[in-house]
Amino acid sequence: MKQAAFIGTGNMGGALVRAACQSVPPQDVIISNRTRSKALDLENDTGCTVAANNLEAACAARYLFLGVKPHMMRALLEEIGPVLTPGQVLVSMAAGLTAETLAGWAPPGTPILRIMPNTPCSIGKGMIALCAGPNAQASHLQAVEHILRFAGRVERLDEGLMDAFSAVAGCGPAFVYPFIEAMADGGVLAGLPRQKAMAFAAQTLIGAACLVLESEEHPGALKDAVCSPGGSTIEGVAALERGGFRGVVMDAVIAAWKKNTALGKQ
Ligand SMILES: NC(=O)c1ccc[n+]([C@@H]2O[C@H](COP(=O)([O-])OP(=O)(O)OC[C@H]3O[C@@H](n4cnc5c(N)ncnc54)[C@H](OP(=O)(O)O)[C@@H]3O)[C@@H](O)[C@H]2O)c1
Repeated sequence: MKQAAFIGTGNMGGALVRAACQSVPPQDVIISNRTRSKALDLENDTGCTVAANNLEAACAARYLFLGVKPHMMRALLEEIGPVLTPGQVLVSMAAGLTAETLAGWAPPGTPILRIMPNTPCSIGKGMIALCAGPNAQASHLQAVEHILRFAGRVERLDEGLMDAFSAVAGCGPAFVYPFIEAMADGGVLAGLPRQKAMAFAAQTLIGAACLVLESEEHPGALKDAVCSPGGSTIEGVAALERGGFRGVVMDAVIAAWKKNTALGKQ
């Protein structure tokens, strides 16, 4: 049996196929997508194999990564359920579908895991939450961590925290992009060429974020270290505070979290 099958290789499934083909031999990855040309492009780029259809992919691998939209998941599980055999593991990336819901659509006893990736997975810089559902074992979590390690950082999380995780890491890129744009706008106002201003702003974010992760210092302490008394940085920080920057960012995360929670109850 191959290690991994990916059924539904759109934006997110496709990004994870590319990552998987770096951590396991591409011959060990089989994929299937409704529009076959999309899967063939991935086969061309990575060396994985396109299955004739979903059933062939579902029979062929130990770990089945399901990358269809949430509203299509039930139909997909009903399609592939009859060909699944004991020992195969389902890994859903569908937002908002609980492991319990998925288990209700899968053959009894099938191990189920959930992952929640974000868009930077497409360049190997993602943040992925991994949670164990019914019948999942430690070895399953380890195998998925291994398969996805080139997509970014994979962190185990209780399913109850998945909505909060999505608000920070799934929605987060959309909160960060306007910040980069605004930093660049400020730079343009101060005379920098647009392209350079955007690159300077984005690289500054990368550097500051890496410093938080690598130094393990509190972001507040790192901010203090940049602010000399009476200097220009503290002038800028004061402007952010006057604009309610931190409160607005917290409100954005809480708003997204509330919406995630509400969507999950529908
Ligand atoms: N995008 C994100 O940022 C993100 C983040 C976290 C989680 N997710 C989750 O990832 C999943 C996919 O989202 P996406 O943004 O990647 O959507 P997408 O680009 O539309 O990908 C879905 C893919 O599934 C294929 N598909 C649909 N029905 C199928 C079937 N019956 N059999 C095989 N393939 C089928 C589609 O094929 P066609 O080529 O024919 O359309 C498409 O390529 C969703 O469940 C979503 O909740 C996405």
